[in-house]
Amino acid sequence: MADAPLMVGKFVLVTGGTGGIGKATAIGLATLGARVGITGRDPARTEAAAAAIRAAPGNPAVDGFAADMSAQAGVRRLAAQVLDTYPRLDVLVNNVGGFWAHRHLTADGLEHTFALNHLAPFLLTSLLLDRLTASVPARIVTVSSGAHARGRIDFDDLQGARDYSGQRAYSQSKLANVMFTYELARRLEGTGVTATVCHPGVVRTSFGAEDQAAYFAVITRVARLFMKTPAQGADTPIYLASSPEVEGITGRYFVNRKPKAFYDTTATARLWQASARLTATA
Ligand SMILES: NC(=O)c1ccc[n+]([C@@H]2O[C@H](COP(=O)([O-])OP(=O)(O)OC[C@H]3O[C@@H](n4cnc5c(N)ncnc54)[C@H](OP(=O)(O)O)[C@@H]3O)[C@@H](O)[C@H]2O)c1
Repeated sequence: MADAPLMVGKFVLVTGGTGGIGKATAIGLATLGARVGITGRDPARTEAAAAAIRAAPGNPAVDGFAADMSAQAGVRRLAAQVLDTYPRLDVLVNNVGGFWAHRHLTADGLEHTFALNHLAPFLLTSLLLDRLTASVPARIVTVSSGAHARGRIDFDDLQGARDYSGQRAYSQSKLANVMFTYELARRLEGTGVTATVCHPGVVRTSFGAEDQAAYFAVITRVARLFMKTPAQGADTPIYLASSPEVEGITGRYFVNRKPKAFYDTTATARLWQASARLTATA
């Protein structure tokens, strides 16, 4: 008899699953047999994406959860809905994120890039942690970017209030994803919940389309021809979420399924404390 698909019986949440890398990740994990929840801002678009994935071969089980994750009230409502709907949570894929060329404020008065790319996964993970811990072995996979290597955490101006650049804010938020994962892995040592982080590659998606820098639009039109497809970009997140090869591996950054160099972690605790203050989870 053929082996059962790898993720049968597992419950997975993929944030930002209506398009791009998140949708491809949701399709991959649903095809492996998981019940998958996806999130998006707009209820109709979120349900349409869930229905499109459900219609794919393999009869995948997919639920849509609508929430604006740039607002902390939205993240809290989303977590409550997921806890009500899923009796267990085996994998959380923190994929939601984006790039904004200009500085925008969220409903909480926070800078949008930092709030959505870093504080939303920070808060959602904290709100779902008990359910993940009750479902061990469980995994938390966060989608960062190679741009984190150009990032610097400006503790004196986390919100880019003094001097905003889209690229700087994005790189900072993606470095925050990596540092968050290292500190999370340290805090979860011995619990059976692992935390890994990855770069998906440069992928042809709607990334940055809402508020694009002019130069970026020109570069992107040409570069799109050479970019990975969303399915190719989802390969490493799916691998980290499901493969027995990475069972028990924690606190590592992956590119193309391979762990990469270890980074300095001296500021991770400081960033954790600042994030906990900003999300009232301290
Ligand atoms: N594309 C790349 O080359 C690349 C490279 C490195 C890293 N990444 C990372 O990969 C992740 C996914 O990027 P992508 O390229 O797939 O982006 P994308 O095509 O723009 O998809 C973004 C997803 O996030 C959702 N979303 C956006 N704002 C939201 C909000 N406020 N609340 C809830 N959901 C929201 C979108 O759903 P709705 O629009 O339906 O709300 C969509 O499902 C990001 O973390 C990005 O930093 C991407």
